[in-house]
Amino acid sequence: MSARVALVTGGTGGIGTAIVRRLAKMGYKVATNYRNEEKTKTWHNKLKGEGIDVLTVKGDVSDPESCKAMVHEVEQKLGPIDVLINNAGITRDTTFHKMSYQQWTDVINTNLNACFNVTRQVIDGMRNRKWGRIVQISSINGQKGQYGQANYAAAKAGMHGFTISLAQENAKFGITVNTVSPGYIGTDMVMAVPEEVRAKIVAQIPVGRLGEPDEIAYAVAFFLDDKAAWCTGANLAINGGHYMGW
Ligand code: CAA
Repeated sequence: MSARVALVTGGTGGIGTAIVRRLAKMGYKVATNYRNEEKTKTWHNKLKGEGIDVLTVKGDVSDPESCKAMVHEVEQKLGPIDVLINNAGITRDTTFHKMSYQQWTDVINTNLNACFNVTRQVIDGMRNRKWGRIVQISSINGQKGQYGQANYAAAKAGMHGFTISLAQENAKFGITVNTVSPGYIGTDMVMAVPEEVRAKIVAQIPVGRLGEPDEIAYAVAFFLDDKAAWCTGANLAINGGHYMGW
């Protein structure tokens, strides 16, 4: 069988880079999107230096037309997309009574509407070929809520609603759809939380530390395996014990 093609949105970010690295090492042909060309060049060269070749394609996940062009380019260059990881995400943290409409829509568009924009472009192909893997990278804060994140928590909770509906619609086409909900991982996004606030958050994590990006990538890889074919509509919480929902 020729190598499967995986598109990881937001692949240049903290968790995204770990997913790209892991999938490339597993033999997938991996693509990701970028918005900032300069930053991406440096990132690309760093991975090349590790022997990892990734296709980088210009694309804004919050824009449906851009996603259409992005998926077309990936499929032209690598072949049909078998695996989609909806990972791109941003924060615009502030308490709701201070939140602007822009802060609300920026987060909903990039974190939740992106799932429509990208997945809509790949779902027909997966259904026709009778195989596919889709994973949403949500968040612990979509499960438990978070002071200062009404926009982010709403988007992240919405991602799992998306997962469980798509999982039902596409199960008989050999497509699994799952969610991974990371807790606080040592990425730039989490390090941007003010230090004293972050220290209080870390103190609530039973394992006693922030997570590592590859601890999330490891879980993503599990869902992609052929042997995980019966696992669909799941939400796998990986958070050092920070939130233990049912
Ligand atoms: N619970 C209850 N009260 C809280 C609180 C909490 N968790 N956090 C803050 N408060 C209270 C403060 O004690 C303070 O009360 P007083 O006015 O009575 O003193 C009040 O709320 C205002 O707090 P701040 O001074 O912190 O307000 P601010 O406007 O400067 O900042 C904030 C608010 C932006 C929400 C800031 O507290 C913050 O950054 N919090 C962290 C949010 C967070 O966890 N973001 C996660 C980013 S990483 C990520 O999202 C990845 C992932 O998936 C996990």
